[in-house]
Amino acid sequence: MSKGTAVITGAANGIGQAYAQRLAADGFDIAVADVVDASTTKALIEATGRKFFSALVDVTSPESTLQFAADVAANLPPVVALVNNAGIYPWKSFADTDYALWRKVLSVNLDGAFLMSKAFIPGMKERNLGRIVNVASSTLWLNVPDMSAYIASKGGVIGLTRALASEFGASGITANAIAPGLTNR
Ligand SMILES: NC(=O)c1ccc[n+]([C@@H]2O[C@H](COP(=O)([O-])OP(=O)(O)OC[C@H]3O[C@@H](n4cnc5c(N)ncnc54)[C@H](O)[C@@H]3O)[C@@H](O)[C@H]2O)c1
Repeated sequence: MSKGTAVITGAANGIGQAYAQRLAADGFDIAVADVVDASTTKALIEATGRKFFSALVDVTSPESTLQFAADVAANLPPVVALVNNAGIYPWKSFADTDYALWRKVLSVNLDGAFLMSKAFIPGMKERNLGRIVNVASSTLWLNVPDMSAYIASKGGVIGLTRALASEFGASGITANAIAPGLTNR
């Protein structure tokens, strides 16, 4: 019996893939949006007996994220959870962080969480049920040089999370952030 669908961005690899495995083991069907092929994750999830859907989606694209929400709705049970995990973390000194890199990191790490929330919150609101988990980073509380864009983006992720929690709590939608430490997968 499915507990509903959990959407995880950036789950073709790394920590996101581990989130997908755990959520599948807990009874959720899994949808993955990633810019790279997610066939390894597909094999891991289908081995648990749960359903799986993925698409090549750039989370910085308003059109692709909306299309993905429509495709997930057509292929899997209703979405009850969204994990905004996709992220990039280039190590660059502030001097070497040009505006293009700054925009790129903010776009993937923060705009991505915004756009995926825009795409999936309407369905959650309709059903009065949703769990949003945004992936921040412990770097926000540590003294880590050479990650200005990244740390700024994760600060934004925490701000977005608090704002969503305030705005949608009454609609049965919770929003929380987690802040992993250095993790090797
Ligand atoms: N690994 C760590 O030590 C660590 C620590 C703290 C926080 N985090 C956060 O955890 C998350 C996952 O990190 P990871 O180490 O597993 O990274 P990873 O590089 O292994 O995986 C990130 C995934 O995101 C995907 N992705 C990148 N840009 C994308 C885009 N525009 N649209 C869709 N997908 C995209 C990549 O293809 C990849 O599959 C990130 O948000 C990262 O900031 C990681």
